[in-house]
Amino acid sequence: MPTLLTAFPDFRQLSDRRGRPWRTSDRPSTPAPGSAHVGQGNGVVRLKVNGDVYEVGVPEHYTLLETLRYGIGLTGSKQGCDKGDCGACTVLADGHPILSCITPVWEAEAFEVRTVEGLADGTRPHPVQDEFDLNGAAQCGFCTPGILCSAVALLDRNQSPTRDEIREALSGNLCRCTGYTKIYDAVEAAAGRLREGAP
Ligand code: FES
Ligand code: FES
Repeated sequence: MPTLLTAFPDFRQLSDRRGRPWRTSDRPSTPAPGSAHVGQGNGVVRLKVNGDVYEVGVPEHYTLLETLRYGIGLTGSKQGCDKGDCGACTVLADGHPILSCITPVWEAEAFEVRTVEGLADGTRPHPVQDEFDLNGAAQCGFCTPGILCSAVALLDRNQSPTRDEIREALSGNLCRCTGYTKIYDAVEAAAGRLREGAP
């Protein structure tokens, strides 16, 4: 059954695939950006995100990132530069990394979205998440959700990437903390685990 969210800011989750309750504490304490436009040119978008279907009332200028964060409450994807430069907002569109901060939300009706919240298998982290932990590949963590999404897209199509291929796949994701070496090490280690049959 689809999850139905009504127009901003009074949205409710009626049901979802995993039976998670919609907590009132999840609601923004202040009106979401653009909420003044409710009823004035807003529309309802239907999005498939991490296997759940959402119908969300949004201001028509909203991006996919704004809808994920302020409409659905999935705040894993980060709002960094908000103009397509840093990669912090990276999510997967039918398995391909895209920058959700420059994707109009209406375009996202055409594909299935996977965010960092959808990478784990239930309570079991994706091998690349595990390896980020084991390799100390996250420091402040702001870039991490976007990098994880880019890494999963790479490993879904290539489980034996070279260091250069990893570098290339993550070249749109900026990290100000780590110096990248531990990130590349973590992706290589995750690739090894996937080759050995890790789920
Ligand atoms: S927040 Fe989207 S690229 Fe920086
Ligand atoms: S861990 Fe801080 S920006 Fe990458």
